[in-house]
Amino acid sequence: MIEFYTGIGDKEVRTIVGKGVLEDVILSAKEKKLLVYPTSLKEYVNKLKSDAIKYEVQDGEGVKDLNRAMEIVEFMFSKGFDRGDTVIAMGGGTISDVVGFVASVYMRGLNLIIAPTTLLGMVDAAIGGKNGVNFKNVKNVIGTFYQPSTIVADIDFLSTLPRQELTRGMAEVIKYSIVLDKDFYDFLAMNQEKIMEGDQSAMEEVITRSIRNKLNIVSQDERETKGIRIVLNFGHTIGHAIEAGSSFSVHHGLAISVGMTCEAKISEEIGYSEEGIVEDVTWMLSSYGLPITIDELEGKIDVNLALSSISKDKKVRSGYLMMPLPTRLGQWRRVDIPLETLNGFAKQCLS
Ligand SMILES: NC(=O)c1ccc[n+]([C@@H]2O[C@H](COP(=O)([O-])OP(=O)(O)OC[C@H]3O[C@@H](n4cnc5c(N)ncnc54)[C@H](O)[C@@H]3O)[C@@H](O)[C@H]2O)c1
Repeated sequence: MIEFYTGIGDKEVRTIVGKGVLEDVILSAKEKKLLVYPTSLKEYVNKLKSDAIKYEVQDGEGVKDLNRAMEIVEFMFSKGFDRGDTVIAMGGGTISDVVGFVASVYMRGLNLIIAPTTLLGMVDAAIGGKNGVNFKNVKNVIGTFYQPSTIVADIDFLSTLPRQELTRGMAEVIKYSIVLDKDFYDFLAMNQEKIMEGDQSAMEEVITRSIRNKLNIVSQDERETKGIRIVLNFGHTIGHAIEAGSSFSVHHGLAISVGMTCEAKISEEIGYSEEGIVEDVTWMLSSYGLPITIDELEGKIDVNLALSSISKDKKVRSGYLMMPLPTRLGQWRRVDIPLETLNGFAKQCLS
């Protein structure tokens, strides 16, 4: 088991990674506790030794909804939860997003423990304090920044996760290695087989390194105001365009995989990065079975729709888009690219 603490704002966030570690964390949580979990993990919850009050939901994007959030609030209120109590969000990113939001607004915030059960949840969604629900079909319109007291990544959950969920989660893992951590890149390059077989110590390393990399960035720029947290967006500008251009039929992990390839090409072609970065990025993504070209994605991409989503990006200022680009393995810089130039590159990548 690995345990460490990270200071973020005025909070100390505890992270625990290991096999079979969740039960003890739940048992030792303070005061009254609510365990919110998805129907798909009902069997696990039934076997759990715990005195928590349980609340089952159907997960997926549909649970990221203000009405579902209010149902949880209603339930907690009926059970007399107050600010000294604890909410445990157990599940994938959709559960941690909605429950994190509820925990942040219920009585102005109570103790939150996040227990991610998907690889994407463990390496990304549960980390960093962003939460939210969707509104009128637009993702994460309503949400807050709210750090959990504990993140507990129990790798036992990965044994039931479909392989494709594992592969898709690896896209975010590879992202950290490319822009933040060259040693991690080397580790991923040497351990593909173990990682994709779910080897315990390899998975502990993958998850711990990913969490450390993300928390390190978040601790420097919790609310995305200093131009540092933007690095976590590598691959996401073109990735989001691909998702939008496919009317969200392409999975996020696959879209950012192609997105990282395109953005590495942009970096190399404009001359921000050392030669070879594109090869490093594409080799790693392919070796984990992730797509690097638009042709490898299922479903048609409407290029015009994709390009128009880039111009609506929140980071566009006076015709320029702020992007994090890799300069060499493990390093990055922030670049303001004229929208026109970016659209030209994006068109090349997406056609
Ligand atoms: N807040 C953030 O910083 C952040 C970051 C990245 C993604 N997200 C959000 O995360 C969400 C996606 O997360 P996700 O991919 O985990 O989706 P998800 O929560 O829908 O889970 C994916 C699927 O895996 C199943 N599942 C969960 N745990 C399982 C297990 N142990 N074994 C077998 N099946 C299991 C679920 O039932 C579901 O069908 C999106 O809504 C995205 O916006 C948030």
